[in-house]
Parts: sequence; structure tokens; C-alpha cells
Amino acid sequence: MQKLAISGGVPVEGDIPLNGAKNSALPILAGSLLCKGETVLENCPRLTDVYAAMRILTHTGCCCAIKEHTVSVCADGVCCSEIPEALMQEMRSSIVFLGALLGRTGSCSVCYPGGCELGPRPIDIHLDALRKMGVRILRRDGRLECTAPCGLKGACVHLRFPSVGATENVILAAVLAKGETIIHNAAREPEICDLAHFLRGCGAFIRGDGESTIRIKGTDELNGCVHRIMPDRIAGITYLTAAAATGGAVRLCGTQNACMENVLPVLEQAGCRIERASDDIYLSAPSRLRAVPRLRTMPHPGFPTDVQPIIMAAMTVAEGVSVFEENIFECRYRHADGLVQMGADICVSGRTAVVSGVKELSGAHVNATDLRSGAALVIAGLAAHGETEVRQIHHIDRGYEEIEKRLSAAGARIRRVAQ
Ligand code: UD1
Repeated sequence: MQKLAISGGVPVEGDIPLNGAKNSALPILAGSLLCKGETVLENCPRLTDVYAAMRILTHTGCCCAIKEHTVSVCADGVCCSEIPEALMQEMRSSIVFLGALLGRTGSCSVCYPGGCELGPRPIDIHLDALRKMGVRILRRDGRLECTAPCGLKGACVHLRFPSVGATENVILAAVLAKGETIIHNAAREPEICDLAHFLRGCGAFIRGDGESTIRIKGTDELNGCVHRIMPDRIAGITYLTAAAATGGAVRLCGTQNACMENVLPVLEQAGCRIERASDDIYLSAPSRLRAVPRLRTMPHPGFPTDVQPIIMAAMTVAEGVSVFEENIFECRYRHADGLVQMGADICVSGRTAVVSGVKELSGAHVNATDLRSGAALVIAGLAAHGETEVRQIHHIDRGYEEIEKRLSAAGARIRRVAQ
């Protein structure tokens, strides 16, 4: 077991290179199952979730290798469409293999993913859409046995909520299906566009990604291609916010700035100066941030739920009162306990959290309860006076590649130590 030891109160200042996006790499790795020949994914983050996805691919019969940040997958030997429970539970987003395995083999057996640290995570939207595409789903012994006896067929599906995972599953199932699939109320997250971009590179016909209606024309065959995973916009905001909360200045290198435009204005509103160049962002923070009046999490292009804990950490030391409204996940204020332990003034009531900025936080021993809560506690630890220990950092390692190395290269005093 490891923990992060932080000596806070030092501005984060310097250049931070951005890694590839986990939320893009995972569905694209699933998509590699659909291709003949070799798929090469560059800029793939070295994260525990990526390794878990590679274990699933290997289990189904793929040959996978990772060299530095390049993952290669050859799916020519796929011979199994059942994902064991142990592999399914390693990460919640393993459900995105459902659409890909159905597309590749016409059947798939997965276990029901159940709830997770953010609250219940139903998959009814995924299953309803796949049923429309001709998939029969039987629940047996806690597993979902899915088959497409007459093959997958294109369909017009309307998602009752623009679920990211469901949109990805339908796209993955549709690219090799017979006929056209139209997804209404699709998720518009940039990672959906990255998946579509990858699949087009393999020969798929997809239009409308990034918009609410996506059209996919099924084709007979896809061929592996070389694709570069997009930069991680959530990790990017995390590093910028680390500078914002500590009165520092950071140049984030290797970004796709347009993807962050739903958050950068919030940091500007808080008093940060931001310069956008073609593929980097420079942020310089005031000595004390201003509170942001009200932030409501919404599907893209709204304010992202994944960023809510991170901005909240910074607002704990801002001047004034900030109000957060969480509309995507039920249990997404679990970072508040750790922040309060460090001296923050936060009042949570249902989906609303009111943060009254305090002059300073003080270091404490806190536990990461999920990926972004862990990142929030790291930011608070960097801003706090004294020593902070963040434990349960396996959550952080799911989504941040060597967070301590990137931050310490920018002057932060943060170390990974044995617990
Ligand atoms: C993805 C991201 C996650 C992000 C989330 C919302 C990945 C690997 N993860 O998760 O980081 O926080 O999008 O932007 O990309 N829902 C249902 N039924 C369903 C599916 C979802 O009720 O069948 C609900 C969920 O419980 C949740 C909301 O819809 O309340 C959003 O979920 P969804 O967009 O599916 O998130 P994920 O794809 O799991």
C-alpha cells in the first residue's frame, strides 16, 4: 500500500506535460476488438484501468503489448466472449466491452456491474439500446448472457439520458451491424469524438459525433489503424487547478484547448489569467481566488461532474461563498469529508454543496474515496499549510499517471511513500 505525502503551502509553478485520456483509451481499446490486423494506440496513459482493459482483451484471445505509451492490439485470435467477474470488477467501465464483443462475436457474457463509489450505476440505457439492435439479454446467476441470434441490426435508438458509456456501447455494436443505426440524445463528450475518429480510421462510417444525433452505417469489416489518444482534459484541469489553488502558474503542455472551454472560464471567473496557445495553456493565479457563484454539473458541453470535486477543493480557500449542484451522480460529494478534516467549511444537502471559503487549510491524514475525490484531496493538500497524507491512492492511480512526478517537477512537495 502506498500513500502521497504532501508538504503544502508552496505554489505549483512550471511546465506539466499532459497524458492521454483514460476515458478515451478505454472504449478505444474495446474498439480494437472489432478490427482485423494490428491496432496501434499512441499516447496511451499508463494507468491501472488501461492495464485492466488489456487483461480483458488478452482474456478474449487478443495479443496486447505496451511499450512506453504505445499499446498494440491484435484481435485476430479472439475466441472468447465471456468476461470473468474478477476482470469485470477491476473497473466499472469494463461494461463498454459489451458492445464491442457483441459486434465482434454476436454474443457476450458479462456480470452485472452493480453500484460503485459514486452511487448506483445502472446500465438499463445500454441494455435497452442493444435490445433494439436485436440483442437478447438473459439474466442468469448475476450474469448477463447477451446474444444476437440473427446478428446485430441497425436501429433508431433514443437514449433517455445522454449516457457516455451507453453511447459508446451502441457505437461499438453498430459499426459492424447490418444497416444504419441512429442514436438520438447521444452523449457529446470529446471522448465520444475520439472513439468515432479511431473507428473511422479503421474503416467505419460514423457521422454526427459531438452532436446529439449520431448516424452509423454498418460495414462488413474494420481494419486496425494507428491512432493517437486525445489528451486528458480532466487531468489537465486538475493540474491547472493545482496552480490556481496555490497561487502558482502552470503551463500545461500537449492539450486540446477547445475540450476544456466548459471549465476554463470558471477558473478565469475565480481570478486566474489564462493564455491559450495552439496546444498548450498557461494559467497564472492570483494570491487568493474568488468564489464562483453557482456551478451545476451537466452532460457535455455543460460543467463536467468529474471536475466538480477538483474545483471544490480550490474554492475551499477562495474569498466568498461557492455553490455546487451535482446533477449526474448521487454520491459525488465524498471528498467533502476529507476537505472538512483539513479545515474547509462545506455544507452538503442533497445534491447541493455550499462552500464558504476559509483563509487557509491545514494538513491532515485523509482517504481518497474515488478517483476525482483523491485528486481533490491532493489539491487541498498542496494548498494547505503543513503536512497532508492522502491514503487509498489506488483510486488516484486509476486516472492520473505519476501525479506526484508531474506535480513535483512543477515545484510541489509531494512524494509517494509506503503506507
Ligand atoms: C463516464 C466517465 C466518467 C464520467 C461520466 C459522466 C468513462 C470511463 N467514465 O462514465 O468519468 O463521470 O461519464 O460524464 O468514460 N445512467 C443510468 N443508466 C445507464 C447509464 C447511466 O441511469 O444505463 C446514469 C448513471 O447512473 C449516471 C448518469 O447516467 O447517473 C451518467 O452516467 P454515464 O454518462 O453513463 O457515465 P459513465 O459512462 O459510466
